[in-house]
Amino acid sequence: MDRKRHGLHYTPPALAAFVAERALAAAPDRPLRVLDPACGDGELLAAVAALAPDAVLTGYDVDETAVATAQRRLPNAAIAHKDFLESPPPERFDLVVTNPPYVRTQLLDGRAAELVKRFGLRGRVDLAHPFVAVAPGLLDDGGVLALLCSNRFLSTRAGENVRTVLTRDLTVREVFDLGDTRLFTAAVLPAVVVAVKGEASAPARYATAYTTDSPADGSDLFAALQAERDSVVAVQGRRFAVSVGTFDNWRLSTPDRDDRRSRIAERTWRTVGDVANIRVGIKTTADSVFIADWDTVEHRPEDELLRPLLCHGDLQAWTPPAPPTLRVLYPYLDRPSRQVVDLADYPRAAAYLAAHRDRLEGRAYLRKAGRAWFEIWVPHRPARWREPKIVFPDISPEPRFTLDRTGAIVNGDCYWISVTDTGEDVAHLILGVANSPFGVRFYDEVCGNRLYAGRRRWITQYVSRLPLPDPESPAGRRVITEARALMAGDGDRADVDEAVESAFRV
Ligand SMILES: C[S@@+](CC[C@H](N)C(=O)[O-])C[C@H]1O[C@@H](n2cnc3c(N)ncnc32)[C@H](O)[C@@H]1O
Repeated sequence: MDRKRHGLHYTPPALAAFVAERALAAAPDRPLRVLDPACGDGELLAAVAALAPDAVLTGYDVDETAVATAQRRLPNAAIAHKDFLESPPPERFDLVVTNPPYVRTQLLDGRAAELVKRFGLRGRVDLAHPFVAVAPGLLDDGGVLALLCSNRFLSTRAGENVRTVLTRDLTVREVFDLGDTRLFTAAVLPAVVVAVKGEASAPARYATAYTTDSPADGSDLFAALQAERDSVVAVQGRRFAVSVGTFDNWRLSTPDRDDRRSRIAERTWRTVGDVANIRVGIKTTADSVFIADWDTVEHRPEDELLRPLLCHGDLQAWTPPAPPTLRVLYPYLDRPSRQVVDLADYPRAAAYLAAHRDRLEGRAYLRKAGRAWFEIWVPHRPARWREPKIVFPDISPEPRFTLDRTGAIVNGDCYWISVTDTGEDVAHLILGVANSPFGVRFYDEVCGNRLYAGRRRWITQYVSRLPLPDPESPAGRRVITEARALMAGDGDRADVDEAVESAFRV
């Protein structure tokens, strides 16, 4: 069985017990009919049965071995060896409990488009999305959906499918974001959502757990997630800050946070997304051909086509990158719009590329897009690289935004913003906010979830939400002045950070 294609990552027992407990706390007071549409070896159903022995259990799974195990474990349950999406059960349930398969679009082959259409989804679907989309229709009034899945849906654009179903067709009761805890040997950082088919009885709860250095005052993560107060728990030698509050449009809301958010909103002139085009770097889709140790290759291409390439490792906050030594074979003329070179003018590059022709022609999508076989897949506009730009790595624990004036090309493991678009002042304003502790906190509270090991994803959809103060205001001017000085090697980071804090009065 291909684990990746089927999204096979079973629920650890402690987490299953927690999901079952929260599900049953919300479930109606009647004999329960319970469905797990992707039950695997029956862990979640077993956890429900342990707390509600009279529940009538139904499970589906496409994996024959898993179905056999589930049948052995739960002899009274009806476990079907069936594809749930192809033949969902006709009856209704009081509880749908599920850890659906998560399989990204790229791995769904041609199936994604069909799923989008059939289940009324949008954009990039994950196999988990249709499982969530059908759940409301399978629930009787007052019924409960208890969903365990990757916490990414809470903040990503792709997660909108799940968020929409949960708020449009159901009422969210509880959300637990297990953040970057990595306490479970699952492939993902989990979130648990409990939603009911019916009206809200009270504001929904929202709780998060993220790594911290603060001293712990407890050791039971699940108790802390259900407590009335924030706490720090020590589990397996690590510490997690547990924050609790209410659900506000897929964010944690507490009086403190809301107050800070509204003060920030009042002082926000524009967001980064309003003033800048945030682009990912180039993608060659054949790095071993286009990025090489050029001193050692046969038919070293003409120097003119070997362009310095800035990568993840070259970037430090506030440090202008040195001209990179790595070079990419960039087969375009230095013109404002993309124009591929005539290989006849570059005999050595032509010979080099010809030696890799099979590999390059294997990229059928280039041909389909009407492009030359020796092109890179995402080149951007060639002349743009010579202009100053903000550059930052796509994933890193701390922000590492800097300003490049070397004219290098930016690799696909980084993002960039052209200073030609923003102007120097606004560019420095962006650097100031993005690199500051204020920016990091805003990121954590509003933009994105941290990955494990405290890493953050500085991608377009998150970075675009960072707020900027008015560059014409005295507070905004101060941020710009301090940021310019620091970027020029003549300032103090603490001064920029302080200027940002005071611009937002936080
Ligand atoms: C993430 S696992 C969860 C298993 C189990 N519910 C648990 O929590 O341990 C997802 C399960 O979905 C199953 N699956 C994948 N596609 C399915 C489909 N179309 N219909 C039913 N089950 C499916 C996989 O075989 C796998 O057992």
